[in-house]
This record gives sequence, structure tokens and C-alpha cells, in this order.
Amino acid sequence: MSLQRTLSILKPDVTRRNLTGKVNAKIEESGLHIVAQKRLFLTKEQAQQFYAVHAERAFFNDLCDSMCAGPIVAQVLEGENAVSHYRDIMGATNPANAAEGTIRRDFAESIEANSVHGSDSLENAQIETAFFFSQLELVG
Ligand code: RTP
Ligand code: MG
Repeated sequence: MSLQRTLSILKPDVTRRNLTGKVNAKIEESGLHIVAQKRLFLTKEQAQQFYAVHAERAFFNDLCDSMCAGPIVAQVLEGENAVSHYRDIMGATNPANAAEGTIRRDFAESIEANSVHGSDSLENAQIETAFFFSQLELVG
């Protein structure tokens, strides 16, 4: 077991439906701590930069558009094995395949409006955290 931090995004479908508090409650009930959080708009260029790893995928343009459709909430979550723990409670990318009790099963609208993003490795968690937060915003 190791104490980790991971980067989470509550996507525009969450802020549009006023579900930020409900998603945050599920995160906290799972034992993860929200140690940094901000609500912001991504520009198309910022969304393309954030999801650059998917640049060649057919869904890239739609994905970037959907991330700019409204405000997002970027957060840093801390806990034991936070990267895999958060992936577990997020549920499968496609909400139709997401396990019962997961965030995507309970809240996601579709594979694109799937409510949350979570880093997929510790290395990416650090890169993605630095994308949104400065050292000063990350209290110990
Ligand atoms: P995320 O990066 O947002 O946490 O999601 P993920 O790891 O579960 O899924 P990933 O493969 O990294 O895909 C990133 C996001 O792209 C959208 N997507 N659309 N139309 C499609 O076939 C498709 N596939 C993926 C999803 O919104 C996914 O979260
Ligand atoms: Mg991913």
C-alpha cells in the first residue's frame, strides 16, 4: 500500500446537471481526500493538449469539444493507491459497462459525457496535476 495522489476531472456533464456535490460525496465516501480543487473552463487548445495522447483517435475532436462544453472541476485526490482506487470507483469508460455503485454507472450520460476523468498511472497523475495546479496550490 502506498499513499498516492491522482488527478480527477468532473466533466461538463456534471457541472451542467449540478452534480458536483453528489460526485464529490461518492469520492469522499470511498475514502479519498480532495486535497486541491478548482472550477474552470478549458479552451479547445487546452483540451487538445490535455488529451494529446488520443490525438489520432477517431473520437478526439468530439472528446475535446465535450470537455469545452461547460465548466469542469479539476481536483487532486489523495489516498492509499489513489490512482487505481479512483479508477475502480469511476467505473468503465462506457457507462453501459460500468459496475453497480460506480460514479459512471450512477451519473454518466454516455461514453463521451461520462462524468469523470482519472489519471491512468502515477506518472500521468503527476503530469496531469502539473497541468492544472502549481506547487503553491498543493498543500502538504
Ligand atoms: P478518462 O481518460 O477520461 O479518465 O477515461 P478513460 O481512461 O476511461 O478512457 P480513455 O480511453 O482514456 O478515453 C478518454 C475519453 O475519451 C472518450 N471516449 N470516447 N467514442 C468513443 O469511442 C470514446 N472512447 C473514449 C471518453 O469520454 C473517455 O473518458
Ligand atoms: Mg484515460
